[in-house]
Amino acid sequence: MMKSLLCSFAFFSFASAWSTFIVPHTDGQDDIPALTSVLTAGNYTNNATILFEKGITYNIFTPIKFPFLNSVEIAIEGNLTLPNDIPTVQAAVASKSYPGAWVAFSGGNNVTLRGTTDPTWGWVDAHGQSWWDAQQQTNRPHGWAFSKITSGVIRDMKLWKPIGWCFSTSGSSNLHILNNLIVALSNTESFPFNTSTLTEASTGFSAGGTNILFENNIVQNGDDCLTVGSGAKNIHWRRVFLGILATASLILSIRNSFCEGGHGLSIGSLGSGGSVADVENVLIETTTMKNSLYAARFKSWTGGNGFARNYWDQEDGAPPNSTVTNNTHIEDFLFENFKGTIEDKPFVEGSCVTDPCWYAVPGATGKEVIIFDLYQNTATNIVAKNISAETETGAQVTVMCNTTTVSSDVGFKCWNGPYVPTKVGL
Ligand SMILES: *[C@@H]1O[C@H](CO)[C@@H](O)[C@H](O)[C@H]1NC(C)=O
Ligand SMILES: *[C@@H]1O[C@H](CO)[C@@H](O)[C@H](O)[C@H]1NC(C)=O
Ligand SMILES: *[C@@H]1O[C@H](CO)[C@@H](O)[C@H](O)[C@H]1NC(C)=O
Ligand SMILES: *[C@@H]1O[C@H](CO)[C@@H](O)[C@H](O)[C@H]1NC(C)=O
Ligand SMILES: *[C@@H]1O[C@H](CO)[C@@H](O)[C@H](O)[C@H]1NC(C)=O
Ligand SMILES: *[C@@H]1O[C@H](CO)[C@@H](O)[C@H](O)[C@H]1NC(C)=O
Ligand SMILES: *[C@@H]1O[C@H](CO)[C@@H](O)[C@H](O)[C@H]1NC(C)=O
Ligand SMILES: *[C@@H]1O[C@H](CO)[C@@H](O)[C@H](O)[C@H]1NC(C)=O
Ligand SMILES: *[C@@H]1O[C@H](CO)[C@@H](O)[C@H](O)[C@H]1NC(C)=O
Repeated sequence: MMKSLLCSFAFFSFASAWSTFIVPHTDGQDDIPALTSVLTAGNYTNNATILFEKGITYNIFTPIKFPFLNSVEIAIEGNLTLPNDIPTVQAAVASKSYPGAWVAFSGGNNVTLRGTTDPTWGWVDAHGQSWWDAQQQTNRPHGWAFSKITSGVIRDMKLWKPIGWCFSTSGSSNLHILNNLIVALSNTESFPFNTSTLTEASTGFSAGGTNILFENNIVQNGDDCLTVGSGAKNIHWRRVFLGILATASLILSIRNSFCEGGHGLSIGSLGSGGSVADVENVLIETTTMKNSLYAARFKSWTGGNGFARNYWDQEDGAPPNSTVTNNTHIEDFLFENFKGTIEDKPFVEGSCVTDPCWYAVPGATGKEVIIFDLYQNTATNIVAKNISAETETGAQVTVMCNTTTVSSDVGFKCWNGPYVPTKVGL
């Protein structure tokens, strides 16, 4: 008896202190400076919880960049609001001190960013509606740059009408991203986001880094639900690239997720401006897509290098015209157990501001369940298996595929014509 008491006493005295910082709030004032000052002093950057309390609507009127964090939990149990007026946000984004996202991390170990399951609290409101209605595309803030974190969690976060991309994870590893909710749905006619610079629209999750598991996330938005890219942060921040060298290798799983209204699950764009892309081991499963432009796609840029494909997408792309041009290559792609309905009635997605639209594929009829828009010698072992689709009009489901671009059975008759699965594709 005595012994065990002593033991528990000893346990408590050696345990290191965990401290909690309750972020103070003043009505009408920016609540970020008070938080920044304690972090700058080095407090609460180790073994600490930084708590935005339930019952308070915090003003995050200026961007914040967290210093390096060790075992820190950021808990958002109250509401957070960005400035409600567009010029204030634009000025902060344009400022030299803007850290690249409204909330930016500069690295850390064992960092948790969490919201709450309480439906009425824990929302981060970016007031995107007024940006969409004004078709305002200049200096849009990006959301949460969870960068350079080793062992991290993003859970139960709830974003209300975010303006730019929502979460990015560049340079991070061993992340679990679960139960997050992104609501970027417009309640007016304005599309979130009507823009020709699509790469800056409200992408849900931009995955960079290694060993990332996404689970049970819900994304209702106007661009990619998920993009997987080398240097994902850069891909969404700028449209034009200057030969960056990105060699992130990804081991990534996505499951039990729901995407609505956007452009789908994407790998890429990779290989922009001749960059070296390297993406590996991506698994996407049990995902429901509603009103989505694509279910899953892979896109890369003509002239890119590395391990990828030559889906030339977005208006800058031209098909490679000779073998002189380097191209990204893809290997071992499997699209399996897809089931859905193709909206083959005339339809223009809200992001189409050019004619032809940025996603137009020459010759496509809108009845295609699979488009392999490949170029010679760029793809190895790409297979579509157990695909079941119908068109809304009842018209025959078709495929696009060019036999000169594939060297093995792709799981269906490779032609521009009706979808006819082969033995491999059943
Ligand atoms: C921050 O830490 C310093 C010592 O490291 C301490 O004196 C100060 O009271 C702390 N401030 C807060 C707000 O915790
Ligand atoms: C944080 O806690 C860990 C384990 O509980 C301990 O090893 C470490 O020294 C603590 N760090 C600081 C800065 O107190
Ligand atoms: C990691 O952080 C959590 C809180 O988010 C804490 O409970 C845990 O002890 C930390 N792990 C280590 C190894 O320090
Ligand atoms: C928190 O913010 C969300 C989104 O703006 C809002 O719907 C909700 O009513 C707010 N909660 C409270 C208690 O004000
Ligand atoms: C091939 O395309 C590149 C870039 O689009 C262009 O600069 C070049 O002139 C083209 N070459 C031929 C032979 O068409
Ligand atoms: C094309 O690939 C080769 C071999 O990998 C490399 O040496 C060359 O720099 C690349 N060229 C361009 C324009 O990226
Ligand atoms: C084929 O896909 C459907 C979903 O569309 C799934 O229910 C079924 O189990 C799959 N069949 C096989 C043999 O995997
Ligand atoms: C998108 O913007 C273009 C050009 O400003 C405009 O013509 C078009 O009506 C807009 N579409 C939507 C859906 O807002
Ligand atoms: C298939 O691709 C080759 C070049 O790889 C091209 O010459 C041919 O026109 C294409 N066929 C169709 C039907 O698009």
